[in-house]
Amino acid sequence: MKDRIQEYNSRFAELSVAEVISCLAQEFPAQVKFSSAFGQEDQVITDIIFRNQLPVEVFTLDTGRLFSETYELMEKTRMRYKPEITTYFPKSEDVEPLVSEKGFFSFYESVENRKECCYIRKVAPLKRALRNTKVWITGMRAAQSDNRQHLDLFEWDEGNQVIKYNPILNWTYEAMLAYLDEYKVPYNTLHDKGFVSIGCQPCTRSITPDESPRAGRWWWESSQKECGLHTVTIKR
Ligand code: ADX
Ligand code: SF4
Repeated sequence: MKDRIQEYNSRFAELSVAEVISCLAQEFPAQVKFSSAFGQEDQVITDIIFRNQLPVEVFTLDTGRLFSETYELMEKTRMRYKPEITTYFPKSEDVEPLVSEKGFFSFYESVENRKECCYIRKVAPLKRALRNTKVWITGMRAAQSDNRQHLDLFEWDEGNQVIKYNPILNWTYEAMLAYLDEYKVPYNTLHDKGFVSIGCQPCTRSITPDESPRAGRWWWESSQKECGLHTVTIKR
């Protein structure tokens, strides 16, 4: 698996997103999955998958701390496309002691606490979601942050032992907006209120035009801008 990354990066470089996903789904039947957080990037990929009826599971990780606007968008998306979106929740045996012992806002107290919450609510459910999976499709874009600028279309995720495919990695923000507009894809109404990258409600704020796209995520931490979902990828 790991040894295919280089080959995929050259073989699929010139194909459209729909063509690549279709090839992958043929090569790995029922083992290609797309994770959506219902961000603008994710909505583009969701639209491509459902409009082309690509046989790929779409799943989301519901942390239990999302914005009500995000739940509204989830519902709009379900109503528009009809096919199922699988939802993974954190395990009650993990969340209950976390909140009972440390309270509802432990993540503001230290980076360690924040990572613990992200692990329980996002990383552990992701591991469950990626069982029996060969290819994990994500909505990451290079322009979102310095960390993401050096990613490739295909990466090997050592922690989850899957091929990771970032189909719109090289799309500009403008190209993404143009796609959403052209196909009238539903989007989170928070984007109209200065929010760009949207995660959990207590850990996301709106940004000003001069700030970087991920400045509103975990804004109280100086250098941590990743929750752990994407930190186990190694480059080839
Ligand atoms: S994060 O690591 O900071 O949370 P970000 O919000 O930028 O990630 O999203 C990048 C990609 O990670 C998304 O396009 C999506 O593929 C995946 N992702 C992030 N959060 C979730 C979630 N709650 N459910 C499903 N996928 C997610
Ligand atoms: Fe917990 Fe915040 Fe991480 Fe969401 S983003 S899982 S609320 S620490």
